[in-house]
Amino acid sequence: MTISTYVRSGSIVRNGPLQLSISLDHSENETLQVQIFNQIRDLILNSHLRGKDPLPTTRELSIQLSVSRNTVILAYERLMSEGYICTKPNVGTFVSPDLPDAALLSLRLDHEPLSNFSKPSPQIKENLDYFRTHQLAKPDRRHLAVDFWVGRPDPRSFPQKAWAQFVKNRLRNAGNQLTSYSDPAGLLELRQAIAKHLAPARGIIADADQIIIVGGCQDGFNLTSRLLIKPGTTAIVESPCYQGAVFVFENLGATLYPVSVDREGIKVEELPAIKGALAYVTPSHQYPTGGTLGLQRRIQLLSWATQQEAYILEDDYDSDFRFVGSPLTALKGLDSHERVIYLGTFSKCMGPGLRLGYVVVPRRLADSFRRMKMLMNNGQGWLEQAAMADFMNSGEFGRHLRRIRHLYRVRRDALISALNRHFGNCEIYGDQAGMHLIWKLNKSYPTAKEVEAKGLNAGVGVCSLATGSALCFSAEEEERLLMLGFVALTEEEIEDGIARLANALRK
Ligand SMILES: Cc1ncc(COP(=O)(O)O)c(C=O)c1O
Repeated sequence: MTISTYVRSGSIVRNGPLQLSISLDHSENETLQVQIFNQIRDLILNSHLRGKDPLPTTRELSIQLSVSRNTVILAYERLMSEGYICTKPNVGTFVSPDLPDAALLSLRLDHEPLSNFSKPSPQIKENLDYFRTHQLAKPDRRHLAVDFWVGRPDPRSFPQKAWAQFVKNRLRNAGNQLTSYSDPAGLLELRQAIAKHLAPARGIIADADQIIIVGGCQDGFNLTSRLLIKPGTTAIVESPCYQGAVFVFENLGATLYPVSVDREGIKVEELPAIKGALAYVTPSHQYPTGGTLGLQRRIQLLSWATQQEAYILEDDYDSDFRFVGSPLTALKGLDSHERVIYLGTFSKCMGPGLRLGYVVVPRRLADSFRRMKMLMNNGQGWLEQAAMADFMNSGEFGRHLRRIRHLYRVRRDALISALNRHFGNCEIYGDQAGMHLIWKLNKSYPTAKEVEAKGLNAGVGVCSLATGSALCFSAEEEERLLMLGFVALTEEEIEDGIARLANALRK
C-alpha cells in the first residue's frame, strides 16, 4: 500500500508501504500477537494514529516485523473486535472513524502506565492510582439497538428552536459581557429566575444571594466538598448511591459512612452521632433505588443535622419529574436551622451538555461558596446563563417542563407494561418519579450482571448497579437490582428492547 499524503511524526515512515513504529521483543513473556495488539492500540490512544488513518495490510506488517502473517491477522482481529480498527472490503484496514472521546478517556485511564507521569510524589501517586482504579468514563454503548441507560434525557426533546432564538438575541446585544469576567456566583438574572422557580416548585424560599450557578451537580459536589471536607471528615452516604459524588468526597480525604436505604430512602434511624459530618442524600428520588423520603424522615434527618452540627447535601437531580401525587417540599424548604445545601441541575430537564446547575446554600455560607467558586473556575460561561435566564423568564421553561413530564410519564407506563407483559408480574419500584425505575429480579432469574451481559449480547442495554454508576455496599442488592432508564426511548423502542431482552433470557 503506497500512501503519499499521510504523514505523522513518530509513528509512520513514508514512501513505500505504510510502516508502523512497532518493535517486538522476542524475549518478552507476552506473545508477539499481544505485543502487536498493545502497540497499535497505544498508537491510537496516544493519537499517533487517528480515526480513518489507514493501516498496513497484514501481509505488509508481517514482512515489516518478520513474523508470520497469522500472528498479525490475530492481532488485527482483536483490535477489530474491541472497536479500534475496521475494514472496508476491497479498500483496506483503517483506524475506527468514531472512537468516542469518552471511550478513549476510559481506555487511557485503564492502560496508561504510571511511568508516563514523571515520578509522582507519594501523595500524587495515591491520587493517580485512585483515578486509575475507579471507572469514571461511561462505556461506549452506541452499538446497542436499544439502550435503557439511566440519567439521560431525550435529546430529541431539547427545545432547540426557542433556545436558538434566545442565544441569538443575547449575542446580538452582548456588548462586552461575553468577554468580561463576571460575578463568580453567576448571572444575577439567572439566580433570580431560579429563586422565583424554586419557591412554588420545591418550596424553597431563597434570595438570589444564596444561589451559586455551577457546572451541573458534579461541579456542585466539588464546590461543596472543597469547603466542607477535610481529610478525616465523615461523609455519610446512602447505600447504594451515586458514585460521582462519593468519589469526590473520598478523593478529598473523607471517611465514608454508608447508611442503608429501604423503599422510602435513607434509614434515618441508622444515622451515626458524628459531629460535623456531611450527609449526602437524594430524598426526592433515591439514587438509584428510587424511593421518596416521607415527611417524617425528612424532619428526623433535619433534626439529626442540627444536633450533630452536620450539613446535609441534598441532591435533587431529577425532581422535575414526579408522576404520582404532588412533589414533596424539598428538605431545603423545611430547613429552618440552615443545615441544608441544595443542588439542582438543568442536566435532566434540558440536557447535560449545557453543564448548568445551581447550589442553594445557607446564608452564612454564601460568601465562602462564592469565593471558592472564584478559586475553582471564576464562574460559568455567560451566554448559556443568559439564555437560560431568558428561557425561564419568558415562560418557555414552564411549558417545556409540562411537555416533557407528560412525554416521560407515557414512556414510563410503556416500560412497566412491556416488562409485565414479557416477564409476568415484575417487582418494580422507584417508578413514581424520575427518569429510571428499578426491576428487582426474583431468584429464578440470573443475577443483574448476567442479565445485563445477556442483554448486551442481544443489543439491549440494561444496567446493573455497578454499570449504572451506583456505589453499592450490599452484595444482595447489587445482585438483584436492575436499573432501566426510560425517558430517552420512544414507546416503540421500549417495546422492541424489552421483547429482545425477553428473547435473550429465554435462550
Ligand atoms: C444522582 C445524580 N446526581 C447528580 C448527577 C450529575 O448531574 P450533572 O450532570 O448535573 O452533573 C447525576 C447524573 O446522572 C445523578 O444521577
